Amino acid sequence: MAKEPLPPAEAVVRLEDVTVAYGDRPALWDVDLEIPKGSLTAVVGPNGAGKTTLMKTMLGLLKPATGRIEILGESLAHSKGKVAFVPQRSSVDWDYPATVGDLALMGTHGSLPWWKPVGKEEKRRAREALEMVDLVGLADRPINQLSGGQQQRAFLARALSQDAPLLVLDEPFQGIDASTERAILDLFRNLRRMGRSLIVVHHDLHTVRDLFDFSVLLNVRVVAAGPTESTLNEENLRATYGPRLGLDPRRAPHGPYDGARP
Ligand SMILES: Nc1ncnc2c1ncn2[C@@H]1O[C@H](COP(=O)(O)OP(=O)(O)OP(=O)(O)O)[C@@H](O)[C@H]1O
Ligand SMILES: [Mg+2]
Repeated sequence: MAKEPLPPAEAVVRLEDVTVAYGDRPALWDVDLEIPKGSLTAVVGPNGAGKTTLMKTMLGLLKPATGRIEILGESLAHSKGKVAFVPQRSSVDWDYPATVGDLALMGTHGSLPWWKPVGKEEKRRAREALEMVDLVGLADRPINQLSGGQQQRAFLARALSQDAPLLVLDEPFQGIDASTERAILDLFRNLRRMGRSLIVVHHDLHTVRDLFDFSVLLNVRVVAAGPTESTLNEENLRATYGPRLGLDPRRAPHGPYDGARP
């Protein structure tokens, strides 16, 4: 396994010997991983590589068969409120009766004691999150009446309104047009500048190379993890995707692709 020496920076997420299985089939095998705090990290790998499983394990939604997980130096049990999640679009129940505004407000609920009603501060945070994703005008629209890209942005607003130091996003650009993608990538960079850490499952290897400072290449095991510049190379990509995949600068800048020459 090609592995970069870990940067001295504090880790936002640390996994040690983590194995996760569905029944007796492992989806993640013996994962050791440290993601630096304050990084914009991409998680890449083929379909079925365990990317979503890794995100859900970091969130405590799936229990590993073995291993330890820490968020900002503390066990998962103490990580409440530290991680906000944007799920993969296909895994959401879009018939859930909520408006865009409800969704943004939902993100603030975790910081409220159970007895306290939603107040001005929560409403302000929800509105700010909607502004960040340019959805203020659609606040009253039910989420099942949104376009795919608007749905993604509504879930992003829910995550932003949580004010969590770590944002975990599972394929946030699915169904998003190019200009919205650029706006959201700008938003990610601003969030990082403000000290947040972001971990993003993302398929476009060219964007990963241009914008993400840390990369994790996953295929059940961690094939490589480290600064993108030295990690996202042909050799590691082949080890992750198989021999027919790679980065070819002559190809259109979209997604991992068949390495056959044009
Ligand atoms: N609930 C489940 N029950 C059983 N097997 C599952 C379950 N969820 C995922 N798997 C299996 O675990 C493996 C990893 O799935 P996972 O969803 O983590 O992959 P992924 O890398 O996110 O893929 P994709 O790019 O398609 O989203 C796959 O082989 C998948 O079929
Ligand atoms: Mg997935």
